[in-house]
Amino acid sequence: MPKKLFVKTYGCQMNVHDGERMAELLAGQGYEVTEQAEEADMVLLNTCHIREKAAEKVYSDIGRLRPLRAAKPDLRIAVAGCVAQAEGEEIIARAPMVDLVVGPQSYHNLPKLLRRMDAGEKVVETEFPAEDKFAHLPARRLRTPTAFLTVQEGCDKFCAFCVVPYTRGAEVSRPAERILSEARALVAQGVREITLLGQNVNAWHGAEGGLATLVRELAAIEGLDRIRYTTSHPNDMDDALIAAHGAEPKLMPFLHLPVQSGSDRILKAMNRKHKAEDYLHLIERLRRARPDLLLSSDFIVGFPGETEADFQATIDLVEAVRFGSAYSFAYSPRPGTPAAERPGVAAAEAHDRLLRLQAVITRQQQEAQASMVGRVLPVLFEKPGRMDGQMTGKSEHLMAVSVTGPAELRGQVRAVRITGALTNSLAGELAA
Ligand code: SAH
Ligand code: SF4
Ligand code: F3S
Repeated sequence: MPKKLFVKTYGCQMNVHDGERMAELLAGQGYEVTEQAEEADMVLLNTCHIREKAAEKVYSDIGRLRPLRAAKPDLRIAVAGCVAQAEGEEIIARAPMVDLVVGPQSYHNLPKLLRRMDAGEKVVETEFPAEDKFAHLPARRLRTPTAFLTVQEGCDKFCAFCVVPYTRGAEVSRPAERILSEARALVAQGVREITLLGQNVNAWHGAEGGLATLVRELAAIEGLDRIRYTTSHPNDMDDALIAAHGAEPKLMPFLHLPVQSGSDRILKAMNRKHKAEDYLHLIERLRRARPDLLLSSDFIVGFPGETEADFQATIDLVEAVRFGSAYSFAYSPRPGTPAAERPGVAAAEAHDRLLRLQAVITRQQQEAQASMVGRVLPVLFEKPGRMDGQMTGKSEHLMAVSVTGPAELRGQVRAVRITGALTNSLAGELAA
């Protein structure tokens, strides 16, 4: 009988992807994934440390496992991800039920760590080993038309609010050959869209010419239709990559490019090393290369020292760019980061700014969605929709599109006439 593994992932796409890879690795150790925590032999919490709420949620979730452990004393509880990296042994001190703590750079060691855990040891592994954690993982067996592919991990930027340089370590780029052979293997399994992942993906330097070269080499793979990459930093958007958006039709016209604030004073305090105007200029150049490029971003409001005027500058930037979507967060002080020492903005004020910013972003998102109505768009179908007989997929601009159609649409790119728009999805019908 295979043992059952329940995985819960918090946080970013990198973490989601890591979670999938850990499940694949553990399949080789006799674990089969279950969607029901109740029937699990091991619960793996794949955690995120980016904001306090996300980090604290782990402890309440561990607490909720208590009755399961009482019913099944053999139940193993493992904590992976960025909280594991940041808190290490403290996790077991605070939650003694936890059997294994493993940081993101040590996942390839899981088989070894599990053996120690099964021998009754409380295991904590938060080293940053020199080897590529993806080099020793089993080959992937994907049954989806879209896939993530990690090309870069870690960050050297040290924005004043952010834990990522501490939890994921220094920037490391995977070599081009490994990425290309993984991509070819994915395409051979039916993958048609690859999203390159990295905390600073456009800082990738695994070959001469940077990410633009990698994109060009990936685009030469027959059967691969779509290439995306995320998340980028404005300062690493080089000329070649901007040009690639105009020259490479497989590179999709959607770019997530976090700016965080529209106030130069706050950008400086955040250690972002760019001004609002630099960002606007960059967007202008990107749009010159690819006029239909849709942009998305991340914003933090209520950063220490942010005044109403600073916040207004953020609203002005949002109005100037017109985003297709964006994430926004109230600043959360994180232990060990420089900004955590600074006097903060009152929580009520930050919350009020967040609501005001989100109202503007939601309006822009609705406008972007509405602008698609009446057009015929290529859609890559991924899975059944919410209603019976529906299939859903993504447009080139990364908008969800649902149509009435057969399951065979999965994995196909088909022309869809867009008939209606909601805030988060489009409705359409197959166009011939
Ligand atoms: N590498 C990306 C983002 C990583 S974290 C970049 O360069 O922007 C994802 C987002 O979480 C960030 O863009 C930021 O908007 C938000 N974030 C990070 N630290 C935060 C904090 N301490 N409080 C609130 N939001 C935060
Ligand atoms: Fe965090 Fe800044 Fe690095 Fe992004 S660039 S991961 S926000 S430190
Ligand atoms: Fe969270 Fe770590 Fe990703 S802190 S956002 S899971 S890199």
